[in-house]
Amino acid sequence: MSDVNEATSLERLRDVLINNTGDIKLAHRFRALFFLKSIGAEYNEKPEDANKAIKYIGECFADSSELLKHEVAYVLGQTKNMTSAPILRDVLESKEQQVMVRHEAAEALGALGDKDSLDLLVKYYEDPAEVEEIRQTCELAIERIKWENSSKAKEEKLETSLYESIDPAPPLAIDGSNTKISKLQKILNDQNTPLFERYRAMFRLRDIGTDEAALALATGFSDPSALFKHEIAYVFGQLSNPVTVPSLVQVLKDTSQAAMVRHEAAEALGSIATDEVLPILQGFLKDEDEVVRDSAVVALDMYEYENSNEVEYAAV
Ligand SMILES: [Fe+2]
Ligand SMILES: [Fe+2]
Repeated sequence: MSDVNEATSLERLRDVLINNTGDIKLAHRFRALFFLKSIGAEYNEKPEDANKAIKYIGECFADSSELLKHEVAYVLGQTKNMTSAPILRDVLESKEQQVMVRHEAAEALGALGDKDSLDLLVKYYEDPAEVEEIRQTCELAIERIKWENSSKAKEEKLETSLYESIDPAPPLAIDGSNTKISKLQKILNDQNTPLFERYRAMFRLRDIGTDEAALALATGFSDPSALFKHEIAYVFGQLSNPVTVPSLVQVLKDTSQAAMVRHEAAEALGSIATDEVLPILQGFLKDEDEVVRDSAVVALDMYEYENSNEVEYAAV
């Protein structure tokens, strides 16, 4: 591919992402985002294209779709491209953005390990007027950045994860006491333990990955924190283990749960996508909550795509 073509395709991807024609399906926009993300991550090989991709991804924050924008923030954190940091800081600071989008921006700053964002993260963490989801996200991001830059990070022995994601916390280190599921479940659910430590137990359980570990994780759905519960649902999407289906369906159906939690449950069910799950998701296509509705739409579209021969889809 010549450079000219590559440049054109970058612009095309941006056009799809920002829905320039006004009639592009949300699932197509997600795919464009996915391609731009992989270009944005190539900052060593092709810095110019990579930084342009980040800039184009950032343009999407002017959109109204909460679901898409929260994914955009997440993706920026996963690129490791530090030109994402100022864009994410602006999003965190903007009260115009929905909580779920601001949350994901703060988390992404943690994923980038951006030390320059520490002051800002501390500011929101300490602000009593701030919503709990943001405060807790900032708490985790601060701890993650501190951990990444600590000597502990170099000494700890961590299991290599099966998953490529940069998570809000690393798993607990492997040592004799951290292999017992009952002990990890206790740390996971202990509200007197710092949230970062509880997240570390969560990711350790994910990495153990057995049915028993998945069911231990499901006990976390009794926690009062929406942030905590949405992360359990996220992890279930990664595990894609059908044993988690009953707990995810229960959360999705429970309209007293925060939209953030129900959305993540819908997405996880979309990744599991067994025959029993698809009709359940269809039942949420008209949910009262926009992010839940959109999550069901995107999950079902993606499922259809993956199970069809629509190879042209990738060309968006
Ligand atoms: Fe999140
Ligand atoms: Fe999400």
